Amino acid sequence: MDTVTQPLRLTILGAGATGAGLARVAVHRGIPVVLVDPGRRVLERAAAAIAEAAGAGPARRLLRVTGSVADGGDATMVVEAVTESAVAKTRAFAQACAVFAAGTPLASCSSAIPIEELADWSGRPPDLVGTHFPNPACDGVEVTRGRRTSEHAVASARALVLALGLRPVLIGEQPGFVGARLQYPLINAAAGLVGRGARAASVDAVMGSCYGHTVGPLRAADLIGIDTLVLTLDELYTRTGDESCRPSPVLLDMLQDGALGRKAGRGFYQYC
Ligand SMILES: NC(=O)c1ccc[n+]([C@@H]2O[C@H](COP(=O)([O-])OP(=O)(O)OC[C@H]3O[C@@H](n4cnc5c(N)ncnc54)[C@H](O)[C@@H]3O)[C@@H](O)[C@H]2O)c1
Repeated sequence: MDTVTQPLRLTILGAGATGAGLARVAVHRGIPVVLVDPGRRVLERAAAAIAEAAGAGPARRLLRVTGSVADGGDATMVVEAVTESAVAKTRAFAQACAVFAAGTPLASCSSAIPIEELADWSGRPPDLVGTHFPNPACDGVEVTRGRRTSEHAVASARALVLALGLRPVLIGEQPGFVGARLQYPLINAAAGLVGRGARAASVDAVMGSCYGHTVGPLRAADLIGIDTLVLTLDELYTRTGDESCRPSPVLLDMLQDGALGRKAGRGFYQYC
């Protein structure tokens, strides 16, 4: 098996819920990160949250935020955590490939899109590997390979997950992998119950107290972000035709209303 020994330096594309969260854990573990996003406000928010978590410790000096991928050109690995859409991901891969040499592992955080499809969009099939970080965070991370993924990319993804203090779980290739394929339809169904009059807190209380979920599905929806949830359900529905993945009208109404969850200060719950 390929082993990875050089010190990690990460460039993370996308400073939203996933990219910023990953950057926070990485710098805390002593890994230098360049966090890239075209959105200035999102970068400022991510930098402030990471600085707050780091306190006076050395971790804050390991983070650089920028609008340009080229600023992260000396990374040993690129993590793609951009919006769950073909357009956004294809553009991000093109930007990365203009900066990084072939052979630099590209880890995609996509929740729904199979690695083989992403590999085609990336133009670098051997470098493309999947790292699906669950939300709510847990100690395992799904690592997924496509048919053409190199051993080096898989070994790098495993090394990254271990360096973050987490446990890689290698799984097969399918839309939504395992986690999102099971979690997102559950959240969608829970949203449907709210549409039929249930209280979000009651739905979550049942799943917590009676079924042992540490975070209820609707609180998880707010953590994930209703926008990401709807985009991911759409991608799953397109690829599986499974009706349980067709976004509930409740989620579509929330999206329309800007009630995007924690990031917006309101979703199924209020955050202030
Ligand atoms: N939110 C979650 O809980 C969660 C969990 C696991 C995986 N994911 C996956 O992570 C990815 C990101 O999801 P998110 O919820 O963090 O999305 P988000 O909407 O919170 O953030 C996405 C960010 O990507 C940025 N972006 C778009 N194009 C870019 C580019 N070319 N270069 C750099 N940045 C770019 C956007 O400006 C935005 O700030 C998706 O593929 C999603 O499926 C999300």
